[in-house]
Amino acid sequence: MSQIKIAPSILAWDLGDLEGAIQISMRGGADQVHLDVIDGHFAPNITFGPGTVKALRSRCDLKFDTHLMIDSPHLYVDKFLEAGSDLLSFHSEVLNGSKFDELYRAVHAKGKEIGLAIKPMTELPTWAAERLDRISTLVVMTVNPGFSGQTMDMSVLPKLRKMSALVEGRGLPTDIEVDGGIEPENVQEVVKSGGNVLVAGAGVYGKKDPVSAISVLRERALQVRDAR
Ligand code: DX5
Ligand code: ZN
Repeated sequence: MSQIKIAPSILAWDLGDLEGAIQISMRGGADQVHLDVIDGHFAPNITFGPGTVKALRSRCDLKFDTHLMIDSPHLYVDKFLEAGSDLLSFHSEVLNGSKFDELYRAVHAKGKEIGLAIKPMTELPTWAAERLDRISTLVVMTVNPGFSGQTMDMSVLPKLRKMSALVEGRGLPTDIEVDGGIEPENVQEVVKSGGNVLVAGAGVYGKKDPVSAISVLRERALQVRDAR
């Protein structure tokens, strides 16, 4: 049974106080910090780059889960690895099999993990299904990339169940990360559908007590995971 991991997305905090955001994650016992990098091309927002990741790295020892929502990831993969990302997730929509292989070699050479993200309307491409054993995390987006605070698109859940069945059927240890609109009210549905890494922006940083919001999500997730 996959481990439940909570990954707060700092995009939902005051962007002038990212250090405060990671401190909340550390105090709340988060498993990893989700860092959303958006280039204004792949999705309609611009966030931060490797310089910010590097600055945060020196202030935090949690796993850095960097979600690259950018058009040309091959131009930046080394920069984000050098900056201290532990898991680098790339979008399937801008890749093909040979581009993925190139990124995989770069990430693997540094001993780091590679993730593959898919937008709500994207199905897992055949080239990705063929390379599933190299992908440590499948990131299933439940909102369109761009902004924190959107409502989860529940119509993605059948696809999530399909991904989870695929991974289990092959006996792989692949994490299934769900990204977008996770709240205490829907986290159990997400876990029942096969998600085990739970990204939460507004679901953590939008709460009055963000430190305990991390435990709330974890406890609710564990209730259904243990019942599975
Ligand atoms: C959207 C980002 C998400 C987002 C999550 O482009 O990839 O990680 O910040 O935030 P919430 O949980 O508020 O939807
Ligand atoms: Zn994200």
